[in-house]
Amino acid sequence: MFFVHLSKLKILMVASEAAPFAKAGGLGDVVSSLADSLAALGHDVRVLLPLYFLIPQDLKQGFHPLPGVISVHLGQEHWARLWEFVPANGPRYYFIEYDHFFFRDRLYDGPYGGFEDNPQRFAFLCRAAIDLPEFLQWIPDIYHVHDWMAALVPVYLETVARRGPLAHTGSVLTIHNLQHQGYAHQSIIDYAGLPWGLWQSDKLEACGGVNFLKGGIYFANKLTTVSPTYAEEIRTPAFGCGLEDIFRFRGGDLVGILNGIDENLWNPATDPTLPANYDRNNLEKKSLCKMNFCQQRFGDAKSDNRPLFVAISRLYAQKGLDVLADILPWVVETMSVRFAILGCGEWLLEEHLASIAHRSPDRIWFYRGYDETLAHQMTAAADFFVMPSRFEPCGLTQLYSMRYGTLPIVHATGGLKDSVVSRAHGVERATGFVFNDLTHQALYSAIGWACATYYDHPSEILTMRQNGMCRDFSWKQSSRRYLECYHWAMEKKMGFP
Ligand code: ADP
Ligand code: GLC
Repeated sequence: MFFVHLSKLKILMVASEAAPFAKAGGLGDVVSSLADSLAALGHDVRVLLPLYFLIPQDLKQGFHPLPGVISVHLGQEHWARLWEFVPANGPRYYFIEYDHFFFRDRLYDGPYGGFEDNPQRFAFLCRAAIDLPEFLQWIPDIYHVHDWMAALVPVYLETVARRGPLAHTGSVLTIHNLQHQGYAHQSIIDYAGLPWGLWQSDKLEACGGVNFLKGGIYFANKLTTVSPTYAEEIRTPAFGCGLEDIFRFRGGDLVGILNGIDENLWNPATDPTLPANYDRNNLEKKSLCKMNFCQQRFGDAKSDNRPLFVAISRLYAQKGLDVLADILPWVVETMSVRFAILGCGEWLLEEHLASIAHRSPDRIWFYRGYDETLAHQMTAAADFFVMPSRFEPCGLTQLYSMRYGTLPIVHATGGLKDSVVSRAHGVERATGFVFNDLTHQALYSAIGWACATYYDHPSEILTMRQNGMCRDFSWKQSSRRYLECYHWAMEKKMGFP
């Protein structure tokens, strides 16, 4: 099928996030940077997103309304407007306007947890994705859908849309985080306009309700996760979040592809948010970033040579920062180090971090919130980047760190294991420090290991920084693997084995 691999594909991505329009975490970064990289290879890539109220106004000014209204064939017909954004080069974006669902100042949750109508909101997005091609008179070869919010697309494709214009369109479902599966009351079947025959334990049914992701996993032609190790982990009860049996059942169609990063946005040589730009040949300029940051945040009058450890994260159990918070007072008492943490999420963890930072203002600085500029500046300023995740499907911040000459200290799980080469494997290749068990003691030892290397073997630290900065974290390899997957999915859809 060599000729197929040379052909240009029509790819429709469906997701609930894409940076810079709407982003809650790495999903948004991945959707837009993967779409960019596929478009750069010459494919016709289009992305469907909701028109959220929170999309920045300056970006919305570049959107254009498409003439007419699209009919979205849920249980009852809904009518909506579509907006288009066409960048000079790159993928085309479509935004579906339906204020009842998307005119809110948060993506998924309010002060009392997830929005109750999230299943209806994202069933609407999925059905709109199915109705879009006819409206545009543009039939995709492949739907690439992301996480539970887009997981009903393959369900529609293989059932109510099985015949007609999409009969030959394949589907790939990428799982970025299995912890969120989209669980709904069974009445969503009527709302979504799906046949009740799907409400079975080997299709959509789970615990008396409907599980969107489970349906997507059953019906997508191919499945991917965002790192090879996570693709293995989710076949086990410890990481499978109750779906491990289905992954074993669909194991032959499941592939792990490591995320890439947007190397233009995350480039220390050109990053406009930094006080000094640098590359691997002039790392002394990185020290200027550190000095500047420490002066601003710790109020140092002169430069300070203590190592700076940084964490930037959503503050949820997945990320393991509660373990870091538990040992932090002990770490700063016994080691000559500084910590800067940027994050928001669970209120109790935010409070805990705020209180320990308050007690050691010259050693620990905590910014409670979400701030992209600060994220870039901290990544550049840091010597070490701490990621004690309990599980991590891929993780992008360790990739950003390595690109910025900052050494990640990571728990050996998922994409962290796949992307960081531990100092334990020899300094020639090492890009960071990896520890195996997520315990207080192990994290404390890993921080101590990094700290001792910093003081006793500065030349090793320099080599490791340069190793990380030489690594290729672009989408070059991974986007080609996605293309392979699209072809497999299309072949499967056409009935090839
Ligand atoms: P996840 O998607 O699980 O949160 P990733 O490492 O894949 O983890 O991606 C996290 C993304 O969100 C990165 O782009 C990171 O810089 C960003 N991020 C997380 N928390 C914050 C924050 N408080 N402020 C700014 N950016 C943040
Ligand atoms: C999820 C995962 C994270 C991954 C990101 C992008 O949010 O938690 O590990 O990097 O998606 O794929």
